[in-house]
Amino acid sequence: MSLRKTLQLQNGIAIPQIGLGTWLSKPHEVENSVVWAVEAGYRHLDCAYVYENQDEVGAALKKVIPSVIRREELFITSKLWNNAHHPSEVEKQLDITLSQLGTPYLDLYLIHWPVAFVSGREKIPVRADKPDVAEIDVNTSLVDTWNAMIALRETGKVKAIGVSNFTIQHLEAIIKATGERPTVNQIEAHPLLPQDDMVEYCRKQEIHITAYSPLGNNLQGKRKLVDYPEVKEVADRLGVTTAQVLIAWGVSRGYSVIPKSVQKDRIIKNFEQVTLSKEDYEKISEIGKNNHVRFNIPVTYSPKWMINLFDEAVEKETQTEYVVKLE
Ligand SMILES: NC(=O)c1ccc[n+]([C@@H]2O[C@H](COP(=O)([O-])OP(=O)(O)OC[C@H]3O[C@@H](n4cnc5c(N)ncnc54)[C@H](OP(=O)(O)O)[C@@H]3O)[C@@H](O)[C@H]2O)c1
Repeated sequence: MSLRKTLQLQNGIAIPQIGLGTWLSKPHEVENSVVWAVEAGYRHLDCAYVYENQDEVGAALKKVIPSVIRREELFITSKLWNNAHHPSEVEKQLDITLSQLGTPYLDLYLIHWPVAFVSGREKIPVRADKPDVAEIDVNTSLVDTWNAMIALRETGKVKAIGVSNFTIQHLEAIIKATGERPTVNQIEAHPLLPQDDMVEYCRKQEIHITAYSPLGNNLQGKRKLVDYPEVKEVADRLGVTTAQVLIAWGVSRGYSVIPKSVQKDRIIKNFEQVTLSKEDYEKISEIGKNNHVRFNIPVTYSPKWMINLFDEAVEKETQTEYVVKLE
C-alpha cells in the first residue's frame, strides 16, 4: 500500500507525495487514467494547459467528484504556458485552465518554463524568418510574470503559486525583485539527474521540489531507467517493479514525485509505495555518478527554443540566440 504521505508547502498546504503525471497521455487515455488513479488512492494530479488534455482530465473529475472524493481532497496542479507570460494574459489563461478542468480553483499554479513566447493563440509561435525556431518574447521578464502570478492569489483561484524548470539563478532573480519565494519548483529529477545543488538550495529556501520524469521518460531514444540492470536487481530482490524502486528513490529524497502512466496496472502499482534501505538508495544513486543525463532540453525540441537554460553540452554547442530576461 502507498504510505499516502503528504509534505507541507511553505504556506502550510499539504501536497501528497506521489501524484499522477498527465503529459503525453493521449485523448481517450487520460480520462480513464485519472479515474483509475483516484480510485487507487492518488490525490495529486499534475496537469498543464500545453498538454492539451485538460478537458479530459475535467471529464474524469466529473466522474469522481463527488461520488469517490470531494474536490477539497484533491491536490490539482496546472501550469501557465509560455505564450501567456505577458501580465495581461496570465489570469486569462488560468481561467481557460479552470474551465477545462471544471474546477473553481487550483491547489498549485506554476510558470511552466522560464521562457516567454510572444502572446497569442499559437502555443508555439514560430519566427517568420525561421519556421523551425520558436518566437521568444524578449520584452516580458520572469519578474513581470511572477508579479502577475502573485496577484492571482488575491483572486482565490489559486491556493499556491510556483515555478517549473527554473534554475537557481532564475529563482534568485524573482525572489530578489519581489520578496516572494515560489512554493514549488517542479524540475526533471531522477537518478541520472539528481540535481543535488537545486535540492539543497530549495531545502534552505523552503521551496518544495516536485520531480518530473521520475522514471526517466525520454523522447531521445536512450535506455529507459526502468530497464537499467541496477534498478532491476533491487526491484527483483524486493519483489517490486523497477518503477516502484525509482519512485521510492525520489520519495526518499524528501520531495514529491509525479510518475505518468495510462495503464491501469501500472497506475495502481506505481502508487504502492516501497521504502528503500540506505544501501539500496545508494546503489540507485550510483547510476548517475559520471553519467549525467537530462532528457528535457528545449533547444532539442522542434521547433527549437534557441535559448541556453541549463548549460547542457547540447545547449552550449548550439548557437543560441536568446537569453532569459530576468527582470
Ligand atoms: N514541468 C515540466 O516541464 C514537465 C516536463 C515533463 C513532465 N512533467 C510532468 O511529470 C510527469 C511525469 O513525467 P514524464 O511523463 O515525463 O515521465 P515518467 O513519469 O518518468 O515516465 C513516463 C513513461 O514511463 C512509462 N511507465 C509508467 N509506469 C511504468 C511502469 N510501472 N513500468 C514501466 N514503464 C512505466 C509510461 O508509459 P505508460 O503510460 O504506457 O505506462 C511513460 O512512457 C508528466 O506526465 C507531467 O505531468 C512536467
